[in-house]
Amino acid sequence: MAEATNLMKKAAATLFPDSGEEQASFLHALLAPGPRGNAIVWMVPPRPGEIETLPREALPDWLPPLIEVVTSGVKIGLSEAYKQGEVYPLDFSSVLTGSAMLSARDSLPREARILDLCAAPGGKSILASALLRPGLILANEVEGRRLGPLRHNLSRCRIAAAHTQRLDPEEIARLAPGAFDLCLVDAPCSGQSLLAKGIENLGCFHPSTVKGNARRQARILASAADTVAPGGFLLYTTCTFSLRENEGAIEKLLESRPDFVPVEVPHLASLRSALAPFPAYRVYPHRSPGAGGFAVLLRRGGETDPALREPLSPPLLDYPVNAPSSDDEV
Ligand SMILES: C[S@@+](CC[C@H](N)C(=O)[O-])C[C@H]1O[C@@H](n2cnc3c(N)ncnc32)[C@H](O)[C@@H]1O
Repeated sequence: MAEATNLMKKAAATLFPDSGEEQASFLHALLAPGPRGNAIVWMVPPRPGEIETLPREALPDWLPPLIEVVTSGVKIGLSEAYKQGEVYPLDFSSVLTGSAMLSARDSLPREARILDLCAAPGGKSILASALLRPGLILANEVEGRRLGPLRHNLSRCRIAAAHTQRLDPEEIARLAPGAFDLCLVDAPCSGQSLLAKGIENLGCFHPSTVKGNARRQARILASAADTVAPGGFLLYTTCTFSLRENEGAIEKLLESRPDFVPVEVPHLASLRSALAPFPAYRVYPHRSPGAGGFAVLLRRGGETDPALREPLSPPLLDYPVNAPSSDDEV
């Protein structure tokens, strides 16, 4: 325990080198976790008052439309809107991802193709569907046991044009190079922010945990970059604080992929990371209702004419989520 606390203190000193007070508040949020904000995204026009939510004036101005923050104690799963698949619950920090993807919205083609490379249980695909209304979402998950919940959630929220797959990111890059207008990488990470939710996560600050995750993230990011169409976007997010897994991972990618450029997200200016020379955004548990998160939006240079694109190759679209059942064919 003493070693874990020391590692946390070291991390706090790296994150907030100029303020002992801020280091202490950050540590307090991890060591004495309190209740955290829960958000919902509406898949249909929101029905004010149906689920008890906080007034928008009380919330950060970067909250995207269709997203509300639920009053503490409200059981979202018991609401009629949840049962009808009209809302999906999100950790407040996930809202950062939704907010960042809005910056890509106006530059996406009609019928945009989205790849969610690390998709289960489906929160980011559902957010992207609500906020961007794409033509196709390919939600990929490498862990077989997580595919069921992913398909269940996409189906419950009636995500049109969603397909699932269980492929290694390298395989997707091989099958569909440059094929997507937006690739979401909500990367597996050391999950340091889980502590702020009161979830035990032993060793999450240990250098070997961080190093192992950073290696995996580098592999995923390299493949993700290959799937993005010229002029398309890559949105990288994590729920951890480690510099190496966040700003460091992107710095490394940019060394080998100078065709990608980090994009400014003006409405997230107040969350700009002080730890990168490029625009990247962080949520901290002592500053916001969320447990913590990181987001960076990259754009690939060049242009693609969507009308001239090849269709996606068959194995990628083998598992549509809302395929008509045999009953519909009668
Ligand atoms: C942070 S979670 C994704 C959460 C999801 N995006 C959501 O919003 O509901 C990271 C996911 O990456 C998957 N993953 C683990 N190793 C991976 C790898 N090598 N390549 C791609 N995804 C991986 C995990 O199984 C996990 O489902």
